[in-house]
Amino acid sequence: MVINRKVQTLDEFTLQQLRDFPKATGELSNLLRDIGLAAKRINVEVNKAGLVDILGDHGSMNVQGEEVKKLDIFANNQLVGVLRHGVSCAGIGSEELDDILVFDDEISNKSKYVCLFDPLDGSSNIDVNVSIGTIFSVFRRVSELGKPATAEDFLQPGNKQVAAGYVIYGSSTMLVYATRRGVNGFTLDQSIGEFTLSHPDIKCPESGKFYSVNHGNFFQMDQKVKEYITNCQKKNKTNGGPYTQRYIGSMVADVHRNLIKGGIFMYPGTVDKPKGKLRLLYECNPFAFIVEKAGGKSSNGIVNILDIQPKELHERAPFFIGSMKMMEELEDFLSGKRSVEMKNIVYSEAPESE
Ligand code: AHG
Repeated sequence: MVINRKVQTLDEFTLQQLRDFPKATGELSNLLRDIGLAAKRINVEVNKAGLVDILGDHGSMNVQGEEVKKLDIFANNQLVGVLRHGVSCAGIGSEELDDILVFDDEISNKSKYVCLFDPLDGSSNIDVNVSIGTIFSVFRRVSELGKPATAEDFLQPGNKQVAAGYVIYGSSTMLVYATRRGVNGFTLDQSIGEFTLSHPDIKCPESGKFYSVNHGNFFQMDQKVKEYITNCQKKNKTNGGPYTQRYIGSMVADVHRNLIKGGIFMYPGTVDKPKGKLRLLYECNPFAFIVEKAGGKSSNGIVNILDIQPKELHERAPFFIGSMKMMEELEDFLSGKRSVEMKNIVYSEAPESE
């Protein structure tokens, strides 16, 4: 049997990175490998979701007031389990838990890192076989090592992240993670049960043809956002438009596509929800870090997402993210530099249906 030594597993890759940095302790590599292990376990359950009684609602609401699915709970427990029993994480914050969970044991208290995650994003799509994902973010603690982690460790701006990533359970299962050194993607090779390096040094194309937004909310959006979206639909020499609209309703899948192929994803504030839907710490920050390290950009419409000082664990933020040139074009609309005449349509309120 010929062994393909060109294929590098996630473990081999993180160890290789460690060898390049002799001063590194290996804690971050351990943590990423722990997350990779949880992802493999979650993947197994996601793949057999239609066969066993794991679909459907758990019967409870999460802290955001959303229905909790059984797989959400399973994914959350897997991540908590590997990180609690590992040696690299002092505590976690999860979209599924009301408060932070500080591990507070002798080994965990000495760990440098804390981790925040959305265990299963897009879970309202589980029962219809749409790609879903796990999103995670890693911060270096600011509290004293040797003592339990504190809330301040978790409430840091995104620009303090040391790593962030996501796992997409799709036509194949991929783990993509970013550190300050760049973004790399690993595809799960089911035959050996290992994530293997398939997308080294991912760069987000400067521009693209996709725009992703929930058009159902259009009439609820700010006028400037409506004008930008209208511009996306126009033939335009400067942007090569009209763009193609793609919206899955599962952010991991939408942003993954735009990261690889070029595009822009938006979840703006609306009249009813001025801060939009997405959570700053579990969804926006990790993707903002990944896309920025790949050469793209993100904002809440006013400032870079990564510069926002979070006030609470579960806060939300309007979110715009994608290819650099498309983000710059959006910013021109949001700042009023550019506008679009929206003829013959009353955009101040939704047209009434007959
Ligand atoms: P959930 O995990 O409850 O399914 O939410 C998914 C998130 C995100 O992944 C996606 O982009 C967005 O919600 C979709 O929201 P809308 O249905 O409002 O467009």
